[in-house]
Amino acid sequence: MAAEAARQAFRGRFLHCLPEGGGGYRVEYLEDGVLVVEGARIAALAAAGAAELQGLDLASCIDLGGDLVVPGFVDTHVHAPQLDVMGSHGEQLLEWLERYTFPAEARFADEAFARVAMADFLDALLCQGTTSAMVYATSHHHATDALFAAAEARRLCLIAGKVLMDRNAPEALRDSAVGGIAESRELIERWHGRGRLAYAVTPRFSITSSPAQLAGAGQLLRDHPGVYLQTHLAENPQEVAAVRELFPEAAHYLDTYDAHGLCTERSVFAHCLHLEAAEIRRLAETGAAVAFCPSSNLFLGSGLFNWQAFAAAEVPVTIASDVGAGTDLSMLGTLVDAYKVCQLGGHALPPLEAFYAITLGNARALGLEARIGTLAPGSDADFLRLNPRDVPLLAGRVAACRDIAEEWFAYQILGDDRLVRETWVAGECRKRDGRLAVGN
Ligand code: GUN
Ligand code: ZN
Repeated sequence: MAAEAARQAFRGRFLHCLPEGGGGYRVEYLEDGVLVVEGARIAALAAAGAAELQGLDLASCIDLGGDLVVPGFVDTHVHAPQLDVMGSHGEQLLEWLERYTFPAEARFADEAFARVAMADFLDALLCQGTTSAMVYATSHHHATDALFAAAEARRLCLIAGKVLMDRNAPEALRDSAVGGIAESRELIERWHGRGRLAYAVTPRFSITSSPAQLAGAGQLLRDHPGVYLQTHLAENPQEVAAVRELFPEAAHYLDTYDAHGLCTERSVFAHCLHLEAAEIRRLAETGAAVAFCPSSNLFLGSGLFNWQAFAAAEVPVTIASDVGAGTDLSMLGTLVDAYKVCQLGGHALPPLEAFYAITLGNARALGLEARIGTLAPGSDADFLRLNPRDVPLLAGRVAACRDIAEEWFAYQILGDDRLVRETWVAGECRKRDGRLAVGN
């Protein structure tokens, strides 16, 4: 493609966060701004008429008509095979896994089914405005392969892994300690670092991985620096009790992972609702991040995440949908429940802190702040065009907002996939006029 053709400029309103030293950040809002995209990257973002834009003919910009542009959302914990599990009634974690989740994941044994379902999952993310995610595939090698292939075709920034589980699971989903690690190794070699893709070693949780398999997971991390680790931790009291029985020698639940070298700066532990103080301290020491999954925690009756405790301990907190226990694939819907859970803990999560969390904050916890989660020049051109007029109950509220924080808060509480008029991934429009763009 000619260099000229690869350049696109957009004029509208822009909201994003920029990283600052010491883990801080700055919110930037441009009431009348111009975003210049060259190929897959952002080349410039500035107020219309600013010196950086000299030479740019403003009349040539695509006029977004006052719509708000924000970075694509980042989801740090979501299960690709669980779209059809959402909304399954009546159980807490362990029964929910047995009754609904394992049977749904077993269907991915069929390769043709897996290929279609993985592509559909990524399209569903794009419709919601999620352009980067850390994802659990199933325990099938071919299904994980299909997920990566579908992400590559869409040029998505995706971190994913084959679920490791060699015990306490139906035979159709079980791998072996050695076989599961060998398959993961093969997938790492094929996909990690290819384009925008990265691999996460993915032991489901300590109940379904033997100590030998957890040791193998640790070996994979040592053999492949840069690979991530994702798993579940202390979501449900029965789960915590089962882990205590299975690992009598462990100091606590986190220790079942830590003993095998699984607590690193590239590890994301989902839930963390029932931790001891020593576990929170250890998370802080190792630089591991936690994923707060509010809609899932409420839906499964798992408990209330203590945002303040992790913030005080300086443990990076990310926010995630955890579909299919989560009830909303949208990061906006996820923030509705995050706000309510924080309210119950005495912390009225400020609107722009929530905005930071699902953009730059989540990106930063994954070490990807130079590429995603922001509209800063040099980063990948993943962004959303939001239009409140597409959501009838939101439009009236927005008209009464006095500043951008109030406006964002209205989006976060009342918005859904209708708000996302366009989703851009690496400089290409993947959702246009509220529909998936043709050619995906
Ligand atoms: N713990 C182990 N597996 C899962 C899962 O699939 N979803 C949730 N929410 N928790 C888990
Ligand atoms: Zn999960």
